[in-house]
Amino acid sequence: MKILIVGSGGREHAIAWKAAQSKHVEKIYCAPGNAGISEVAECVPIGAMEFDRMVSFAKEKEIDLTVIGMDDPLVGGIVDKFEEAGLRVFGPGKNAAILEGSKAFAKNLMKKYHIPTAAYETFTSAEEALAYLETARLPVVLKADGLALGKGVLICETLSEAKKGVKTLMLDKKFGSAGNEIVIEEFLTGREVSVLSFVDGNTVRIMSSAQDHKRAKDGDQGLNTGGMGNFSPSPFYTEEVDAFCQKYIYQPTVDAMKAEGRPFKGVIFFGLMLTEDGPKVLEYNARFGDPEAQVVLPRLENDIIEVFEACIDGRLDEIELKFDNGRATVCVILASDGYPVEYKKGFPIKGLENFKGKEDYYVFHSGTKFDGNGRIVTNGGRVLGVTANGATLKEARENAYKAVEWVNFENQYMRHDIGKSVDEV
Ligand code: AMP
Ligand code: GLY
Repeated sequence: MKILIVGSGGREHAIAWKAAQSKHVEKIYCAPGNAGISEVAECVPIGAMEFDRMVSFAKEKEIDLTVIGMDDPLVGGIVDKFEEAGLRVFGPGKNAAILEGSKAFAKNLMKKYHIPTAAYETFTSAEEALAYLETARLPVVLKADGLALGKGVLICETLSEAKKGVKTLMLDKKFGSAGNEIVIEEFLTGREVSVLSFVDGNTVRIMSSAQDHKRAKDGDQGLNTGGMGNFSPSPFYTEEVDAFCQKYIYQPTVDAMKAEGRPFKGVIFFGLMLTEDGPKVLEYNARFGDPEAQVVLPRLENDIIEVFEACIDGRLDEIELKFDNGRATVCVILASDGYPVEYKKGFPIKGLENFKGKEDYYVFHSGTKFDGNGRIVTNGGRVLGVTANGATLKEARENAYKAVEWVNFENQYMRHDIGKSVDEV
């Protein structure tokens, strides 16, 4: 089969790497891809939002299956374009990707179908939002309705901060039209767990759990980022938690989407908070997480192409997912200093060859490119995801932090405590 993967980050690198192991795959393309992805796929310079060019390319190369990694094209309807052209594609259509594309939609769905989540109200008027805040309990959480690169969520400790937040989102439009509507919700406390799942419209099969570190600095300080590292599985995702989520969250979400005439096929990422009152949904994403894919896919034992195909054909009930559950995986993101605000690009990366031939160690590229002279240089805020397996979480963490020493680039920045808090409980 010929496969096309759409996206350019560490997540797409992990998907391409996993797809390259499939016995069904003869050739992989990635658009636009990055320097690391080019080791397993031919990268083509087509932007993820250039739907017509993407469809033409898939037709010309007779691509058998396209896999969409990123949220923007999914929410924008790339799957519908491929399907209209008679091409096979893995991912939700536009009417289902709204599960991620609109937080107000997701919250209203959960309310209607009694799926546990934080109490909330939605607002399209800044005036009404400000009036509501006067009586809201603090801290309070403000969320821009639309996609905002994971930055449209503000946790406000004081009333004046919350008022400023409403102004930033709704009046100053810091995230553009994403702030036309906002969700104001109850602040939840507990452990956060990410659970990725495959969905075929009816059946849901969950992957091994993961735990993300979203804040930029050690000790969960600093700004929220796309994710500075993570690990899998989460020791807090117990059998009891799983049984609850299967019954009250996963299947009810898939059934709700179907009942709304928006059957979901693809990956649903359940962002959960394990509160004292039980697990609650913080958010849904309509795709693999980044870097969650980097820690979950290395331990997936199935042929991923067979799983994608089963989702598309509505045969996921025939598939049992298998994970190497005796082991753990840790991914440490090497970022450019200054991320997520401002950072420089273009620094040469040294030492990537040290990962060659080393089982249990991976370097997934998030933001890299070739500089024209064959050198690989930094090309983003998140640059590399240095990932390692181990017999235990502790061993995986030690391995990952050993492996970060193998590479270096100017302006390098990382957190030193990925997976650490877990040992301390
Ligand atoms: P989201 O994009 O909705 O996942 O929000 C980004 C991050 O904000 C989450 O990973 C949480 O750490 C935090 N967050 C979101 N909603 C809440 C909430 N209701 N209570 C506490 N923290 C939250
Ligand atoms: N790591 C969080 C996300 O992919 O949204």
